[in-house]
Amino acid sequence: MRKKLLAVSLSFLLLFTSCITSFSLDMKSASKFTAKPLPYSYDALEPYICKEIMILHHDKHYQTYVDNLNKTLENYPKYKSYSVEKLLKSLDCLPKEISTSVRNNGGGVYNHEFFFNIMTPDKTEVSGKLKNAIERDFNSYDNFIDEFKKSALGVFGFGWAWLVSDCNGKLFIITTANQDSPISYIYTPIIGIDVWEHAYYLQYKNKRADYIDNWINVINWNKALENYTSSLK
Ligand SMILES: [Fe+2]
Repeated sequence: MRKKLLAVSLSFLLLFTSCITSFSLDMKSASKFTAKPLPYSYDALEPYICKEIMILHHDKHYQTYVDNLNKTLENYPKYKSYSVEKLLKSLDCLPKEISTSVRNNGGGVYNHEFFFNIMTPDKTEVSGKLKNAIERDFNSYDNFIDEFKKSALGVFGFGWAWLVSDCNGKLFIITTANQDSPISYIYTPIIGIDVWEHAYYLQYKNKRADYIDNWINVINWNKALENYTSSLK
């Protein structure tokens, strides 16, 4: 009888833990969104991206998206507990009057956090399953880089270029306008470059191609591999 009771208790505990885990992945406390600090110093990406750009990009542009997302959700307590990922995956289900603002400002928050984390001052190289998948889907790493640069250069106006994975681990290069995010289209972003002018104009003026060429040097391929590996689960 005691054994049976113990088994029932353990099953209940497992069920409870799994519910808490899945809840915590999609939800946050109903507090405001806050800007996350850069994972390196403002000048760490020099000479490829200068300190002034990083200060402006992180402290002004990213911060504004965070502030605007909080303002948007001010009178919608239900959605304050959602993570930014959950908000962006639920755009069609949000009240009409806030869905465009969440798309723009939630996208701005998610994309910038992703972007700051996919850059590093450390020299890294593509490796493991991601290297194999790039060679499988783009013939070679060099060919992938060429295709990625072309796509990033071809974004009209404000937007992003991404390497993404679908649910089968197949890789694609996509571009998104404004602050639209791949996660709203059920893709997992692996790397992504911000080609809004605020990301490069201070240093590169109108030469977006030079910015893209230099940006390739700061890709965090270790983080990219983590992103790809998690997309396969
Ligand atoms: Fe940006």
